[in-house]
Amino acid sequence: MHFLANLFRTFHLVFLVLNVASVAGITKAAAVQTHFGPMCDLSNDNVSLWLPSDINTRGGRPLLEPTAPHPSLVILAVGVQNYTCLDNGTYFSFGAIMELFDISCIPQSARASFTTFVSELWAAAPANTTGWDLVGASGVLLHSFALGQHYWVADPLAPASGALNPMWDFRSTSLPRVADPQTAYLVGYRTGIVPAPTDPARDAEWVTLAPLVVDGQPDGLLADQVFRLNTNGGMPPTNSCVPGSPEIHVKSTLNFWMYGGAWATPS
Ligand SMILES: *[C@@H]1O[C@H](CO)[C@@H](O)[C@H](O)[C@H]1NC(C)=O
Ligand SMILES: *[C@@H]1O[C@H](CO)[C@@H](O)[C@H](O)[C@H]1NC(C)=O
Ligand SMILES: *[C@@H]1O[C@H](CO)[C@@H](O)[C@H](O)[C@H]1NC(C)=O
Ligand SMILES: *[C@@H]1O[C@H](CO)[C@@H](O)[C@H](O)[C@H]1NC(C)=O
Repeated sequence: MHFLANLFRTFHLVFLVLNVASVAGITKAAAVQTHFGPMCDLSNDNVSLWLPSDINTRGGRPLLEPTAPHPSLVILAVGVQNYTCLDNGTYFSFGAIMELFDISCIPQSARASFTTFVSELWAAAPANTTGWDLVGASGVLLHSFALGQHYWVADPLAPASGALNPMWDFRSTSLPRVADPQTAYLVGYRTGIVPAPTDPARDAEWVTLAPLVVDGQPDGLLADQVFRLNTNGGMPPTNSCVPGSPEIHVKSTLNFWMYGGAWATPS
């Protein structure tokens, strides 16, 4: 678990440099919380200033505008994206398992380079360290920063179709003991998807997502909107695959910016 030890040290360094005094306060949070904000103030963050101005000009479906002036949470995700091989020899995105960490204390201008730095640590981790190893160990090691997991679930609107939807799930961490479990998760669907700006063959697409609506209600109240950006890795190999070959897991390190929802920063 050298990778996790290094990640843990990295977080502590960041927090020492930023002199964040509030970390201890967060772990002493009340037994039942109805609301939970980021570790550091995000009211100066503006995703529109961060996105390249030509982000929506290289194909795909345009990213949407943020639904709130400032994000309610900014997350580092570390894990794998899964691919299966279709009968026609092309890779098909089939879920992911990623561990989620609060990086609101890292200034907006430093988040991309921090994320790339973590992706280099993750790339250097032993080949047999899986996304699930990370999930199992980091909740204990990094409890001040660990938020929960990102994975994919059967589409609640068509459970038998084989279609999957992304889930952000904070219910497993000891950190947020929320009264209403619906405030601690979100099942989403894509509203926009564009190629990653610098290395689209290697880095997963940048995406906007909205809550999936099931029986007239959003499936989870964690956020009203999610951006996926600052992606490092995650795309499948560019060559064709052999139909019937086993699922592959591609390492991926990226950011989610969440807007609105139950965890919005009090303004
Ligand atoms: C964010 O930046 C964009 C682009 O400069 C600007 O139009 C917008 O007003 C800013 N939003 C906030 C909430 O400051
Ligand atoms: C392979 O099959 C999938 C699913 O039917 C389809 O979406 C994709 O366009 C196909 N790719 C090629 C190169 O034929
Ligand atoms: C993706 O890969 C992980 C192993 O790294 C596995 O646990 C998970 O079930 C896979 N499938 C989906 C749909 O996420
Ligand atoms: C991973 O590989 C290393 C060395 O090759 C080995 O010592 C270790 O037990 C393996 N871990 C797992 C979880 O398989």
